[in-house]
Amino acid sequence: MKTIGVLTSGGDAPGMNAAVRAVVRTAIANGMTVKGIRRGYNGLMEDDVIELGARDVSDIIQLGGTMLYSARSSRFKTEEGLAEAMATCKKHGIEGIVVIGGDGSFRGARDLSLRGIPCVGIPATIDNDISSTEYTIGFDTAMNTVIDMVDRLRDTCDSHARCSVVEVMGRRAGHIALRTGLSVGAVAILVPERDTSVDEVIEKIERTRALGKKHFIVMVAEGVGGVDEMAKKIEATTGIETRGTILGHVQRGGAPTVRDRVIASQMGFEAVNLLKEGIGNRVVAYKLGKIVNYDIYEALNMHKPFDEYMYLVADTTSI
Ligand code: F6P
Repeated sequence: MKTIGVLTSGGDAPGMNAAVRAVVRTAIANGMTVKGIRRGYNGLMEDDVIELGARDVSDIIQLGGTMLYSARSSRFKTEEGLAEAMATCKKHGIEGIVVIGGDGSFRGARDLSLRGIPCVGIPATIDNDISSTEYTIGFDTAMNTVIDMVDRLRDTCDSHARCSVVEVMGRRAGHIALRTGLSVGAVAILVPERDTSVDEVIEKIERTRALGKKHFIVMVAEGVGGVDEMAKKIEATTGIETRGTILGHVQRGGAPTVRDRVIASQMGFEAVNLLKEGIGNRVVAYKLGKIVNYDIYEALNMHKPFDEYMYLVADTTSI
C-alpha cells in the first residue's frame, strides 16, 4: 500500500490524537503517504481530506479531543453514502483506512473492506464497551476525570454529612461506574448489567450509617439513570440530605493519561503494520497486556462479560 487514510468516528475519546499520531508516523516510517479524513465518515463521503506529514501531528499526543474531528453518520450506512466514500478513496488514491472509534465505526470499516478498501479498526471510546477488547482508548482518562470530580463532591458531602448520587457515562454499559465507584468508595454502584433496586441502596446506606458512616456516594451508570428521583427517595426515606449530580460530557475531555497515550500509540503502530501487509477487515484489541487483532465480523460478535469479581470487591469494601 502506498497511501492510507485515517479517520476518527463516533464519540471522541482522549487518546484519539495519540493514535492518529502513531498511525501517521508509522506509515511515513514505512514509506507510505497518509491522508487525514476529517469529521469521520462524513468527511469521507464529502471529500474533507488533508495530507498529513510527520510534523502535522506534532504536539498532539497530549491533547484530548481529536484533531481530525469526529461525527456519527447514519448516511454512511446507505449504498449512496458508501458509493460517495469509495469515490473519495479513488480520488485521493486511498488504498486502506485506519478507523479509530467504536463498534458502530467498525461496521462502517467492514462495509468498506467488503468493497475493496481494506480497513483496520482501533477501539476508542471512554465507555470501554467494545466486546473484542479488554481496553478501549479513553477509558482510563475518563475514569480519572470522574474520580477527580467525585473526590471534590466528597469534600462537600463530608462537610454536610450528605449523600451524593452521581451519574457517569457509559452508554449501555457500567464499566466506568464500576471501576470509579470502587475507586471513590461508593456505598452502592448501579449498573445496567445488574439489577439493584433503590430499596437495596437505601438498606446499604442505613446499614453502613449504623456502623458509623457519615457521608455517602452512590454511583449510577447512565444506562440506569434516574439520579434525581433516586436522590429524592433516599432523602425521604433516610432523612439524609441527598443531591443528584450528572457529570456529563466533562468526562470526554482532557489530556490523555499515560495508559491512554501508550495503548493508543501501540494500536496505531499495529494497525499500520497490518495495512502494510495488505491485511484489512481487522480490529486491533488489547488482551492480557498485548495488542492482538481479530476479524471485524468475529470482533463484532464477541461478548464481554460483566466483571462480577470487581463488583464483589467494591460491595464488600464499602461498608
Ligand atoms: O460513547 C461515548 C459517550 O460519551 C457515551 O458515554 C454517551 O452515552 C454518549 O457518548 C453521548 O453521546 P453524545 O456525545 O452524542 O451526547
